Amino acid sequence: MSFTVAIDGPAASGKGTISRAVAAHFGFAHLDTGLLYRAVGGRMLDGLDPVEAAERLDPADLERGDLRRPEVAQAASRVAAIPEVRAALVDFQRAFAARAGGAVLDGRDIGTVICPEAPAKLFVTASDTIRAERRYRELAAKGVETTFDAVLAEMRERDARDSDRAAAPLKPAEDAVILDTSQMSIDEAVAEAVAAIEARRS
Ligand code: DC
Repeated sequence: MSFTVAIDGPAASGKGTISRAVAAHFGFAHLDTGLLYRAVGGRMLDGLDPVEAAERLDPADLERGDLRRPEVAQAASRVAAIPEVRAALVDFQRAFAARAGGAVLDGRDIGTVICPEAPAKLFVTASDTIRAERRYRELAAKGVETTFDAVLAEMRERDARDSDRAAAPLKPAEDAVILDTSQMSIDEAVAEAVAAIEARRS
């Protein structure tokens, strides 16, 4: 039987960590849909047409080693505003969501556009300074040279583009449970997410 968990939210809100933990807890498969847009953004940086890149996306493209880089994140956010790019990625995401055994998808429009019928929807958020702090620490640990101010500015630019675009903008579904992780540890946030999903399973 399929059971879809839709988890949306802005960059570095904790949705990726929560999604992986929730998937492991329930034994569900997990898809980080941001990787699809990052793979298309990476292809655009290689010089390809983004719509063509999205139409020809191969699961192997999701394994590229550079998809977490800040310039790929910005490119992902730019290609994500193109309706034809989004349309080319819908079927893959919906097929993943419908797989037997349950699925967790995280992104920006999972609860609103990709899986509006999902029985469990979460919108994970946190203040932008806390999110930038988390992302800065992640990048610094990987040896990427940057500053907190640069990360904060990049994040605000990306959030504004993702929220203000006409095609599937970032926003909570009406029936999403809002989880503000600003003052939560990872364990607390995961426990709240698991409880919210449990409540929709019965
Ligand atoms: O989740 P992320 O930071 O890896 O996503 C990278 C970009 O991809 C993000 O800025 C907007 C876009 N995206 C989207 O538009 N819709 C999704 N479901 C997932 C990501």
